[in-house]
Amino acid sequence: MSSLVVRDLHVTVEGKPILNGIDLTVESGSVHAMMGPNGSGKSTLSLTIMGHPKYKVERGEIRYDGQDLLAMPVDARARAGVFLAFQYPSAIPGVSVANFLRTAINARRAVPGATAGTAQEARKNDMPIPQFRKLLAEKMKLLDVDDSFITRSVNDGFSGGEKKRLEMLQMHMFRPTLAVLDETDSGLDIDALKTVAHGIEALRSPEVGILLITHYERILRYVHPDRVHVLVEGRIVRTGGPELAAELEAKGYDFVREELYAGRA
Ligand SMILES: Nc1ncnc2c1ncn2[C@@H]1O[C@H](COP(=O)(O)OP(=O)(O)O)[C@@H](O)[C@H]1O
Ligand SMILES: [Mg+2]
Repeated sequence: MSSLVVRDLHVTVEGKPILNGIDLTVESGSVHAMMGPNGSGKSTLSLTIMGHPKYKVERGEIRYDGQDLLAMPVDARARAGVFLAFQYPSAIPGVSVANFLRTAINARRAVPGATAGTAQEARKNDMPIPQFRKLLAEKMKLLDVDDSFITRSVNDGFSGGEKKRLEMLQMHMFRPTLAVLDETDSGLDIDALKTVAHGIEALRSPEVGILLITHYERILRYVHPDRVHVLVEGRIVRTGGPELAAELEAKGYDFVREELYAGRA
């Protein structure tokens, strides 16, 4: 039973305060939705969990599975089971999807601390190629990914929907125990949205915690969260069950903001 525990998290970007005291616990086996208007700090939270160097933690802690995540470099976080699906994934021209996935899987399996001098030693945990092919075929089928996809360069000329599909494919290939999805639903047509939702639901299991970051309520019709949080101006201002998402859909974010300002007055 591993959980993500965020306590009193304060984060600045280039000296500007973005997160102002976040408290959040995501237990394995549960799906938490983090909703909020643009600029509220959703991506900042996800990138801080993953360890992006631009996001400076001024105060507070992030623990996963009892470990101090903030003290760990990004690759150690990945090896601990944390996966982030990016809101804006990068293109890697010249590197095929298949090669990228295999290299990334093996990097996660590499013996920590092994150096270039002992390359063979570092690679002894590599996934055998037939096993990789079998896993890839299985996940492509699950996520309805076309064969032509895997020989193309990573995200190079991909449509928005294809990029998000690749994020889903990566997620399933890596089998994380904590998946943070940053607006993986944004800009998708209904078919792509359903594929993504299916990919998220298929990951759900007692061993996996999911933090689903979204601007819109739409995906929550297909992925059913256990808890819903509303992030405004770097603070979680409301937490509730799935009904909170429906309330936001009906009333918009303004009503949360009004409550917030009324509370300050
Ligand atoms: N890399 C960055 N450089 C400068 N400012 C940033 C950066 N990332 C986020 N910000 C600022 O932090 C605030 C929150 O951004 P973000 O976390 O992307 O919000 P959201 O994902 O909820 O739209 C915004 O005001 C944004 O301009
Ligand atoms: Mg964002």
